[in-house]
Amino acid sequence: MIAGGSIVPPGDKSITHRALVLGSLADGTSAIEGPLTSLDARSMAGALRALGAEIAPLRPGRRVVLRGRGLRGLTAPRGSLDCGNSGTAARFILGITAAYPFRTRITGDASLRRRPMRRVTTPLRLMGASFEEENGDGLPLVVHGGRLKPLEYQSPTASAQVKGALMFAGLAAGVSVAIREPVRSRDHTERMLRALGARVEADDLALRFTPPATIPAFDLRVPGDPSSAAFLVAAALLADSGELEIRGVGVNPTRIGFLKVLERMDAAITVSPTGEVLGEPVGTLLVRPSRLRAVRVTPEEVPSLIDEIPILAVLASRAEGTSVFRGVEELRVKESDRLGLLATNLRAVGAAAEATTDTLRVTGGDARPRGKVETARDHRLAMAFAVLNTVRGADIRLSERKSVAVSYPGFFDHLAQVLHS
Ligand code: S3P
Repeated sequence: MIAGGSIVPPGDKSITHRALVLGSLADGTSAIEGPLTSLDARSMAGALRALGAEIAPLRPGRRVVLRGRGLRGLTAPRGSLDCGNSGTAARFILGITAAYPFRTRITGDASLRRRPMRRVTTPLRLMGASFEEENGDGLPLVVHGGRLKPLEYQSPTASAQVKGALMFAGLAAGVSVAIREPVRSRDHTERMLRALGARVEADDLALRFTPPATIPAFDLRVPGDPSSAAFLVAAALLADSGELEIRGVGVNPTRIGFLKVLERMDAAITVSPTGEVLGEPVGTLLVRPSRLRAVRVTPEEVPSLIDEIPILAVLASRAEGTSVFRGVEELRVKESDRLGLLATNLRAVGAAAEATTDTLRVTGGDARPRGKVETARDHRLAMAFAVLNTVRGADIRLSERKSVAVSYPGFFDHLAQVLHS
């Protein structure tokens, strides 16, 4: 394959989620340019609409105008809120509704209902909210919110979803929130709140958020999603020749651990900064096909590349030597058991891979990848193995392809656009 052309990835999922939340809680009308319009973003918009926010339909290529209700203006939903496949939506909505004096039932699809929620409800209970569990640690959950107390919390998990949920609870309830995490996770909530005038003091592992009295309406152009760009980067690295330019990508340092790992793998990638939006750095990536070597990923870097492990594991299966990803147990509770499924699917297509409770080992080679891949309807597994299927002589059958619409509806079109035979 020959890599070529210049492409802009879809809007960042994390930033789109936060913009929808903050626009709904703002005073006045906000406009979001270039938001992600995927199923996950629609789940978030749908849940916020059910709570009274006015959000225009999310359509590709269209700016989204939303009328905020103010920090105390959301209203009780009629039925259950269905967050679909989106963990970020579920956790943020748990945080927001914890600050409101009504009852909210939150559910999701079969994958989301299996994912852990106590990481958010435990600290929210400390703030004074209560929850009815219908399914243990998972969804559905009924939230009984109301007046909340300030929080000082040491989170056992490095999770930006937990941080965001707690900051949004503090924001809507008007109480301060201090959080310490074991390893730093992505800091989009901190940056966006700061850009909107709120006080967030943060160092490497700890933050203290003092809620403002109001959030002003804002206009935002959402940067391209580095996690979606990572699949295009990988396709270009595995190509035989050419060069791919990826423009308008968010390059927030807490998100681009995968670029640092790829550098250690000898990948030919240059990153050029081009500007900043609402505190988020943006840049252009230039990628050339590369002979990769194996890499060791440490537990400390995992949060900065948590969503890129599927595609890094696929690249490791084409690299020279054995790559080791340590401290990746969090992958067991993502949209699927990504740790287990990465190992079984890599083996199913002829690669050498092994997973333990918290470690993934992948030995690279250049045999043709052939076989059937079970995606378990996990968008990132589908995209990672679709990229592997672009190498010469590959013959991989995916159990389904539709799940890509969760985060990257135009993925297959973009892949065809950047690779030519
Ligand atoms: C996200 C945080 C990450 C990531 C998810 C989006 C966010 O989850 O996996 O896709 O927008 O905050 P955790 O921080 O819970 O690991």
